[in-house]
Parts: sequence; C-alpha cells; structure tokens
Amino acid sequence: MEFRKALGSFATGVTIITTRTADGHPVGLTANSFNSVSLDPPLVLWSLANNSGSFDAFKQARHWAVHILGADQEELSGRFARRGEDKFAGLEVGNGQGDVPLLKGCAAHFECRTVSQYQGGDHLIFIGEVLDFSRDEAAPLVFHGGKYAHATRRDPPTQKPRSAHLAGSFGEDFLGYLLGRSHFRFFSQIRPFLQREQLDDMEFYVLSTLTLKPLLSDDQIAEGMAGVLDERRQRALDGLVERGFAQRSDGGYALTPNGREAALHLIAEAKAIESQVLERLGDADAAILKTILNRLLGVVDPNAANVLWQQNGSV
Ligand SMILES: Cc1cc2nc3c(=O)[nH]c(=O)nc-3n(C[C@H](O)[C@H](O)[C@H](O)COP(=O)(O)O)c2cc1C
Repeated sequence: MEFRKALGSFATGVTIITTRTADGHPVGLTANSFNSVSLDPPLVLWSLANNSGSFDAFKQARHWAVHILGADQEELSGRFARRGEDKFAGLEVGNGQGDVPLLKGCAAHFECRTVSQYQGGDHLIFIGEVLDFSRDEAAPLVFHGGKYAHATRRDPPTQKPRSAHLAGSFGEDFLGYLLGRSHFRFFSQIRPFLQREQLDDMEFYVLSTLTLKPLLSDDQIAEGMAGVLDERRQRALDGLVERGFAQRSDGGYALTPNGREAALHLIAEAKAIESQVLERLGDADAAILKTILNRLLGVVDPNAANVLWQQNGSV
C-alpha cells in the first residue's frame, strides 16, 4: 500500500481508453498510466491490469483511442473506472480509425494502432502509434494522491522585489489583505447598481438572503448571515421594511413583490459582473478559486449554515 501511495505522489492527467471487442461492442476504462514515448515516430504507452474486464478486448484489438479528460469530466472518469456498467449508455460516441469509439468533449484525443505489447508484472503495457489526434484548450483533469485535482498556472517569479514593509506590519500576501481587497474591489463594481436602489452593502446582503425562501425566520436569517453582528443585520432588515422591500409576517421576514423584483435585477447585475471578472481569470482558475474559497469557508466558519442553500424555495 505504501508503494501505491508513493506512486500517487506523481501527479498525472486522467484518460479514458476505448476500443471495440471482436464482435463490435464498445469497451473502455479510465487510465492514468498513459504517457508519451516518442515524437518521431509518434508513440504513446499505457498499461492495463491483467484482471481488467476489458483485458481480452484490448489484447486483441489493433486500434484504440486515448481521451485526455478535461477538468469538468470527473463524473465520466468515475463511470469508466467502474466495472461491469454499460459505460457508454447515453453518451454521444463517434467512430475513429479501426471503428474505435470516440468520446466527445475531451481536452485531447489520440487514435492509435498497437505496435507492441509487453508483459510488465500484473499489467500489460501497450505501445501505440498515433494515427490521428485532436486537442482543445480545455483545462485538464488531474489525479494526485488518489484524488482528483485541478491544475493551475503558477505565477512567474516576480522580477522586482516586493515593496518593503515596516517590521511587524502585514505583508501583501497576508490572507486578510488579499481577501479584503478582492472583496472591496469586486464589490465596488456592484455598488453603483445598489445605489440606484438606495441600498447599502448590508441591505443587499439581507435582500439577497431573503430570496432563498418565501419566508425566513429570524433564526434562519441569522444562520444564513453567520458572522454578521445582530444589530447590523437588524438595522438592514428594518431599512428594507421601511422602504417596502420586505415585510414582517408570522415570526419571520418575506420579500414584498417590489423587493423581489429589485433583488432579481440586482442579482442578475451582480452575476454579470461576476462573469466579467471570472472570464478574465479563465474557466479553470475560476473553478479553482471557488473550490478553494469554499474550502476556506469550511475552515474559518465550520458551522456556516449551508442549510439555506440546500433547501428548495429559492427565487
Ligand atoms: C484515475 C484512475 C486511473 C486508473 N488507471 C488505470 C490504469 O492505468 N490501468 C488500469 O488497468 N486500470 C486503471 N484504473 C482502474 C480502472 O479504471 C478500473 O479498474 C476499471 O474498472 C477497469 O474497467 P474494466 O474492468 O471494465 O476493464 C484507474 C482508475 C482511476 C480512477
């Protein structure tokens, strides 16, 4: 097991390798043993467990295809890593060289012809000549330490030294600074829309929380806005009621039709700003940022009430 763990230190991409049985059935499995071998001639390799259900099919096949999975294809990877399922059910499948089944939406694919097979312990190693291939700009799915992971570009080492700080002051890489400044700059793009409705940040926070359910009790609002001081939350609720955006009923608060309409507009506008910002980061880094921030929330706010988001009754 230690050996397997040590091998897992090597981060890889994830592939699905497909072929057809002699009687024409598509077969395939998830594999991370894929690697490049030679550029000229173009050769690749991978290895297949001797006890794999698709062993005979691959041993006899003259052609197979390697699909490099994108970051959004974890589910497909899971499906092709399970034995015995009809792995191709419901998938759109094309036909490659040698009638090999081709999967859509992958980061790259290579259509290969077997040139050699070597027995390597409990695996059979395949070397294939690449007859055709395609590639997309999609971010790759990564496998590391037995878990799926994201790949992100590292920042180039900074040329100029970071500005000097007084001893004892926070540096520019202090998490609180990075989070606070990002929040401030991000929110300053949304604020003009709030000002149109004469709402401040806190009132918008409460307004958007109230869209989660038709009626929220005081406790649910407090849970949904964990970390906000009771008085600030109450002042914002009172302000929304005063302006006809929310009303108090049956021990809780609900949006008025005006409040719901304003909230819908503002949320759409905030999402448009979010899209612009995330587009500049790129899809892959945007997904990573959200994953990490959610994980950070779990660390700094383990009791955070996800409850509201997990139940029905949103706008
Ligand atoms: C990320 C990942 C990588 C894998 N890599 C390989 C591999 O390189 N070779 C292999 O034989 N099995 C590999 N497996 C396991 C097979 O996908 C799994 O045993 C599958 O059920 C085999 O399907 P089959 O029995 O229908 O052939 C991997 C599984 C995962 C999740």
